[in-house]
This record gives sequence, structure tokens and C-alpha cells, in this order.
Amino acid sequence: HGMKYPIIAIDGPAAAGKGTLARQLAEVLALPYLDTGLLYRAVARRVLDQGGDPAHDGPEQARQLMPEDMRRDDLRTPEVDRAASLVAKEPEVRAALLERQRLFARARGAVVDGRDIGTVVFPQATAKFFITASPEVRAQRRYIQRYGQSCTDSAALAAEVAAINARDGQDASRQTAPLRPAEDAVQILTDGLDAAAVLEKVCQILQEKGIIR
Ligand code: DC
Repeated sequence: HGMKYPIIAIDGPAAAGKGTLARQLAEVLALPYLDTGLLYRAVARRVLDQGGDPAHDGPEQARQLMPEDMRRDDLRTPEVDRAASLVAKEPEVRAALLERQRLFARARGAVVDGRDIGTVVFPQATAKFFITASPEVRAQRRYIQRYGQSCTDSAALAAEVAAINARDGQDASRQTAPLRPAEDAVQILTDGLDAAAVLEKVCQILQEKGIIR
């Protein structure tokens, strides 16, 4: 295949810490970083803005997606969380976004995070990681991300766990490009690890594989 530039694929369920890891790893390796979830979120945002149905109106908006759609600051609301998972089920939406993702990495390689990066978007990636954490840990991280503090209300935390489980169930059970580890992905469970520890673990694995020094 002769891949000139490294492509590091980072997949896993919602709020497992993929984004933090991918951003930091891109910085360490001096590679561009692509958050593919943002593409699905931007499509969902466009559908919602048009008053459309996320389960059906994704393809049209995916084909019209503009770079500035990914720079909006309202892409991480609970409403967009749900709608993004719905638009992501549509094979036509995924097809419309596929080439865009591949083009991004063509010039200089990339660190890319998502759900199907190692399985579909870059099956020939230089290295693949599948990052997971228990639903409770992910719910707490998501809560901190959203409100800047940890959640002490057990009912609110349970609702967050339910929302995360619903979204993962939908992402993992869809027909096209479901959430699942590639056969050659290294799986990392991040419960009890902070971002620095996850980054160190991944860098160590990349060293062992001879991908970095
Ligand atoms: O990673 P995220 O939470 O920002 O992703 C938002 C939604 O987009 C998520 O429900 C799954 C979907 N997604 C996908 O299907 N494939 C990707 N490569 C990235 C995200």
C-alpha cells in the first residue's frame, strides 16, 4: 500500500475520551487532527435548523455541508447528540462524508477520531486504537464537560448514563459502519486513567510498534 504519512485511527463510544486523546496525540506527533463526529453533528444541526427530521433529512444537508458549519459553537447540545446519532445511521449521509474525511488526511496524514475510522474510513491506518470506559465514567466525564463540575445528583447521572447507552446502542446496531473495534485495533479501557495517562499509554504502544521514536 505504501502509505507515506501516518494515519492514526481512534474509535470508541461516546465520551470515552477519544477527542482529548486525539487532539493531544496530534499535537505530540505534529499531525493534523480531524474530529469526524463534528461532521455528523454539523449535518444534524443543519437538519434541526431547517425544522427537518434527523432520521430522514440528513442526506440533503450532508451534501450541502460547508466548512463553516463545523465551526459553529452549538454542536454539542443534548439535542444535537441525539440528532447526530440519527443522521449517522443513513448510508447516504455516511457516503457523502467519506471522501471529505479521506481528503483531509491525504496531504500530511492525520490523527482521526470517530466510530468507523479503523473499519471503514481508513482500514489501512498506520495504527488503530479503540478507546472505551464504563458508562458511569463516561456519563460523569460528559457531565463535567458540559457543566464544568462533577455530578453529585444520582438521578441526573443515571439520566446521562441512559442517554449515553441509548446513543451507543444506536451507533453499534446500525447496518452501515457500526461502532465496533477493527480486528487490528488496540483496545484501551480508560476507567481510572486521566488524559495524561491515556496519552502516555498510546505513545508507548506507538513506540513499541516503531511508529514513533
Ligand atoms: O464523537 P461524537 O459524539 O461527536 O459523534 C457524534 C455522533 O456521530 C455519534 O452519535 C456517532 C456519529 N459518528 C459516526 O457515526 N461516525 C463517526 N466516524 C463519528 C461520529
